[in-house]
Amino acid sequence: MSSLLQWGILATGNIARAFAQGLSHSKTGKLVAVGSRSQESAVRFGQEFGLPPAACHATYEGLLADPEVQAIYISNPHPGHAEWAIRCAEAGKHILCEKPLTINHGEAMAVVEAAQRHGVFLMEAFMYRCHPQTARLVELIRDGAIGKVRVIQATFSFRTGAGADSRLLDPELGGGGILDVGCYPVSMSRLLAGAATGKPFANPLKLSAVGHLGETGVDDYTAAVAMFPGEIVAQLATGVRVTQENVVRIYGEDGQIFVPSPWSPSRDGGASKIIVRRNGKPEEEIVIETVGEARAYLYTIEADHVAAHLAARQSPAMSWADSLGNMQTLDSWREAIGLTYPLEKPEHATAVGTSARRPLRRRTDSVM
Ligand SMILES: NC(=O)c1ccc[n+]([C@@H]2O[C@H](COP(=O)([O-])OP(=O)(O)OC[C@H]3O[C@@H](n4cnc5c(N)ncnc54)[C@H](OP(=O)(O)O)[C@@H]3O)[C@@H](O)[C@H]2O)c1
Repeated sequence: MSSLLQWGILATGNIARAFAQGLSHSKTGKLVAVGSRSQESAVRFGQEFGLPPAACHATYEGLLADPEVQAIYISNPHPGHAEWAIRCAEAGKHILCEKPLTINHGEAMAVVEAAQRHGVFLMEAFMYRCHPQTARLVELIRDGAIGKVRVIQATFSFRTGAGADSRLLDPELGGGGILDVGCYPVSMSRLLAGAATGKPFANPLKLSAVGHLGETGVDDYTAAVAMFPGEIVAQLATGVRVTQENVVRIYGEDGQIFVPSPWSPSRDGGASKIIVRRNGKPEEEIVIETVGEARAYLYTIEADHVAAHLAARQSPAMSWADSLGNMQTLDSWREAIGLTYPLEKPEHATAVGTSARRPLRRRTDSVM
């Protein structure tokens, strides 16, 4: 095997393509295989990224059984994340799993437990967390650039043109804003409230929300307010039926910080910026140049970040505890607006069995 981390991609949708493109610029990893639910789609994807036919698997199981693959990027819709992350762990593959890590906190606990038990790397793929812009933002808050943080405003909301059968609106596929993009404002507010109080992240003490459930039953748009330790209030907004200004603003006792592109800074390489306005001082524009040869792509940075932290099995930018706190907060937001998915209903839970979608059984290595 080469010294490069050998990646497999599970599922061949939109974000899988973006990640494969990012990986093609990586100096630490390379794509060696893909797995899809169909041979045709696996081969089409493989041809696009220069894979031989034998590396294009017609099933996800085929990808997991491929001995060339060391790490798997999971990019199927949210309800499939838990099942395939657990199966990747069992197959001894390192895992970069798309956000949200799972549908809910219970499933996330099962995934983390599987990674721990099988000794593999696991990270929820919040690419913005790996970007130097986010590191700089955290540093500014920690250094007290705007004094005591009082209010955090974070929004990620867009209007989809897709129909009711799209994963974005389908309750069976975990549709709606909170899980698709609301997870970003939640994770950002938890990161910043943590930085403001000397911790890697913080969890809200209280959260309230209102929202509109659309005709398919998922959240079309919704807003939450949360109280964090340190008397920090967060205002969070998300949606899949309305485009809003997708920015982050942080207000402190001595000034404010504005992040115009918090979620996809320099997606195709290049620079991004953070604006700092200190009370009574001229505005400061901090430019963040991504490092790398010619251009440092967002998903290249993410893939390289995984390779750099593989040995520790967790990422310092998005630890397991951080993901678990994020899922718990997303559960609270959904609960506040009355959004439960069909697969969370008791009758469905009985039918699908465990988070790995297998019947409940006694584990052979269990002491109980
Ligand atoms: N980090 C980011 O920037 C980012 C951006 C967008 C999305 N995401 C996350 O990535 C995941 C996938 O999003 P996407 O936009 O790439 O979705 P997408 O374009 O709809 O692709 C999803 C893929 O999953 C597979 N799949 C498995 N079961 C499926 C089912 N029941 N219905 C439809 N597809 C199914 C399909 O691939 P095969 O046919 O090959 O199996 C499909 O192409 C989501 O969890 C989303 O939250 C992350």
